[in-house]
Amino acid sequence: MVEEITKEFTHGLPKAELHVHIEGTLEPELKLKLAKRNHVNIGQSTIEEVKETLKFNNLASFLDVYYEAMNVLQTEQDFYDLAMDYLHRAAKNNVRHVEIFFDPQAHTSRGVAFADVINGLYRATVDARALNVDARLIMCFLRDFSRDSARETLEEALKYKDKILGVGLDSDEHNNPPMKFYNQFCKATEEGFHITAHADPDQPRSIEHIRDLLEVIGVERVDHGTNIVEDPDLVDYAVKNEIGLTSCTLSNNFLNADMKGKEVIELLGKGVKISIHSDDPAYFGGYIGDNYYTIATKFDLTRDQVIKLVKNSFESSWISDEQKALYLKEVDEYVAKH
Ligand code: ADE
Ligand code: ZN
Repeated sequence: MVEEITKEFTHGLPKAELHVHIEGTLEPELKLKLAKRNHVNIGQSTIEEVKETLKFNNLASFLDVYYEAMNVLQTEQDFYDLAMDYLHRAAKNNVRHVEIFFDPQAHTSRGVAFADVINGLYRATVDARALNVDARLIMCFLRDFSRDSARETLEEALKYKDKILGVGLDSDEHNNPPMKFYNQFCKATEEGFHITAHADPDQPRSIEHIRDLLEVIGVERVDHGTNIVEDPDLVDYAVKNEIGLTSCTLSNNFLNADMKGKEVIELLGKGVKISIHSDDPAYFGGYIGDNYYTIATKFDLTRDQVIKLVKNSFESSWISDEQKALYLKEVDEYVAKH
């Protein structure tokens, strides 16, 4: 019998969200509200007009629209509201644990204080406990900014060490290899941060970037990273070292016209700790439940495959083994009931 995967099933599954950019959760409604509150002229005054701006077909053209929209984020309260808006949606998707990316340089470069960004976001993570969501923060370096800028950003972050769980790397990968940030990743590790980095799908030199991330820099996870299938030796490495890969069905489809479903199935079958996430859900048409539902239905995943993906999300998260065991038990209980 073919098991039908329903939206109710994928949305209700307890899950860990490990790849969501808080700036990518800025919904048109909130964008308009913040533009008005901060008197920022964004050139749009209706939801339809904001939606009209969402035109892109690759990473670089997406990033242009994405950074432009951030101008409405000005105060600590704006960052709090942005994160709280997201965390309510996360709760509806039964996200039990989330490690949220944020890009301080996208804000400090516009004159917003680092303190306002981190304090607003952090306050929301504390308030999310009332929603039954355990939320943490990962600070990303923008890879198209200079090494010096990354160094200054890490120095600033050290003042807020207790509020930041890890350090990541995002933005435009073309001509910005991970080794550009080798020193800052070493420093971040010495300071006790977890480390991860984007290896976006089908970039020039994807496999070289993934190899450097794993074998030289020593990241614990790779964000996207599905090009690893091209190198069986690296796949073995990822399995042996329990490297998490965070694949994002809907953003893959928008930016590459390919959901990477075949790669996800292959890597899952080989024992890689791959899981499904939402990237920039306000831009790519869906939150984490939709990302699971879309890959499950378009690629005929079995229930067991979907369950393995969510279990991988908890297993590759940066929480204690005790906490992991509790969440995995929740998954088993949910599955037994559905
Ligand atoms: N920043 C936000 N989304 C991103 C993505 N998919 N890749 C790189 N940088 C990003
Ligand atoms: Zn991303």
